[in-house]
Amino acid sequence: MKVSVLGYGTVGVGVCEMIEKAEGLELVSVLVRPGKADKPFKVTSIDEIVNDPEVEAVVEVMGGVEPAYSFVSAALAAGKHAVTSNKALVAAKGPELQRLASEKGVAFLFSAACGGAVPFLHNLALAVESDEILSLGGILNGTTNFMLDAMQRDGMDYADALKVAQALGYAEADPTADVSGLDALRKIMLACAVAYDKLPCEGFCLEGIESVTAADVKHFQSKGLVLRLLVRGGMQDERLYAFVQPVLLSASSPEASVLKNFNMAKYRGVNSGDIVLIGQGAGRYPTASAVVRDLSDAVHGRRVMMKPSCERVEADNSVVSCRYYVRLSASLADALPFEEKELDGELCRGVTAPLAVTDMHARVKALRDKGESVFFAAMEE
Ligand SMILES: NC(=O)c1ccc[n+]([C@@H]2O[C@H](COP(=O)([O-])OP(=O)(O)OC[C@H]3O[C@@H](n4cnc5c(N)ncnc54)[C@H](OP(=O)(O)O)[C@@H]3O)[C@@H](O)[C@H]2O)c1
Repeated sequence: MKVSVLGYGTVGVGVCEMIEKAEGLELVSVLVRPGKADKPFKVTSIDEIVNDPEVEAVVEVMGGVEPAYSFVSAALAAGKHAVTSNKALVAAKGPELQRLASEKGVAFLFSAACGGAVPFLHNLALAVESDEILSLGGILNGTTNFMLDAMQRDGMDYADALKVAQALGYAEADPTADVSGLDALRKIMLACAVAYDKLPCEGFCLEGIESVTAADVKHFQSKGLVLRLLVRGGMQDERLYAFVQPVLLSASSPEASVLKNFNMAKYRGVNSGDIVLIGQGAGRYPTASAVVRDLSDAVHGRRVMMKPSCERVEADNSVVSCRYYVRLSASLADALPFEEKELDGELCRGVTAPLAVTDMHARVKALRDKGESVFFAAMEE
């Protein structure tokens, strides 16, 4: 299959190198910005690619929603398969792109957008053909896992853990999307779309790791607990839930053994039971490997990851409840329904009665809106 690649950055370079070595794939051209076409295979106009009858598939690895959406739409409309690693694009425009691809009978695949090398969406898309997925989730952001692991095992504080993650290229100069949980949320949106034919677009509960301190982590360690940022999605009472929050786990839990910047994706099928996949969630070659796997899938006739019937829905996170560990000011010791609590100088640390995820996130938001500093994490079930 003859392929053009849109974007020649971290992932794009890796994809081009891998295509050159892959059986059944051939690189035709690469779209770069005007002024950057320093080799004959580099082109600067998307029209050159869309109008080239030789090109059978495009790989979009530019990032962002526009012009990626316009470029991928044009390629699909011209009857070319499309593969992307761009979660922002699929979260924003996935259903439209899938419908266009299905109309044209071409593939639209996006494994690399969720979990890097980990074949999470690839396996989910296969699993839904024969099984019912009860729930899914895991650790889908390597940057925050690296930071939490560095705080836990190396005793770093938050700022130092972030600096090291940036120095190693795991965190961007602006790390907001990672540390706020937004990156992980986008990935769970895509996984829900694949597993349930529903793309959650509103009603999310999102808590990242920005509030955790070295003292919190030391306190968890003294209790034999490990903190991880987990995503969860699933169906309960015919309602779709999808949320991201820190979770405190026993040191023996599988998630606690996921170290450094690794990802762990999980799903539970009615028939398969728990399936767990661990691997590199980002980086040039891990991500490129997922892109090239999608291209091979297209060569072998796989067309669909998200069904064309996929509809946008509001997530309902009131259908899941958790007990929450909370650290806040001692003056707020009665602000939440604690089942147990201890006062530690000016701080109160406690564990709440079970609360709906929406309820807990709203309660903490109300406290923070009043200027209070609060850290919270769900307790492992
Ligand atoms: N890096 C990872 O580990 C990883 C993992 C999973 C998924 N992804 C996703 O993969 C996508 C690409 O990520 P990346 O890390 O490779 O980003 P990157 O290093 O910034 O590469 C993007 C490339 O696309 C080029 N580009 C952007 N807009 C363009 C346009 N209109 N025309 C031509 N070229 C254009 C950029 O050029 P300029 O530099 O001139 O702007 C840059 O060379 C993103 O959606 C990202 O979320 C990345």
